[in-house]
Amino acid sequence: MKLSTHILILSLVMVPLVAMSRSNTPDEAIQARQEIMKYIGSQMRTLGAIQRGSAEFDPSVTRGAGQAIHAMSLSFAFLFEEGTFQGDTDAKPEILAGDGFDTHLDNFQKASLLLSQAANESDFNDAFSQLGQTCSACHREFRK
Ligand code: HEC
Repeated sequence: MKLSTHILILSLVMVPLVAMSRSNTPDEAIQARQEIMKYIGSQMRTLGAIQRGSAEFDPSVTRGAGQAIHAMSLSFAFLFEEGTFQGDTDAKPEILAGDGFDTHLDNFQKASLLLSQAANESDFNDAFSQLGQTCSACHREFRK
């Protein structure tokens, strides 16, 4: 199966999952965000292989992945609500406390949008590096 088809199918599966995750139990919110993070992580590995040159650059693939990650990034505002910081989670409760998390989230949403729009390899490399930095910046501060 072509990589782009694979990504498309995953996107079709994941988007309804994101839509469903609102207003369920805290455990379901935790599980949804962890699964979404894992999926984003797998997309980043695919994109990392392209950036390193071990897979061919194809804008339909990289932009599709960017679009999927961006769509998921928009769900995060609903998935870190009060009551979702106990139990099987590595999210720090400080997320609720202030603007720091929102700033990281905003940077993440902007970088994934850039990735979804990158039409050539140089723009892709820039957007991918920028996006990667937003993951580690937020994890350093808000993940246990
Ligand atoms: C705005 C903050 C933020 C951003 C941006 C962010 N993450 Fe996370 N990530 C978290 C938090 C918080 C957790 C812990 C979630 C939990 O355990 O409930 C997490 C967990 C994870 C996990 C572990 C999931 C699991 O439990 O198995 C992976 C993988 C991950 N993130 C990948 C990424 C990647 C890749 C990016 C960037 C493309 C990214 N994240 C961007 C905050 C963020």
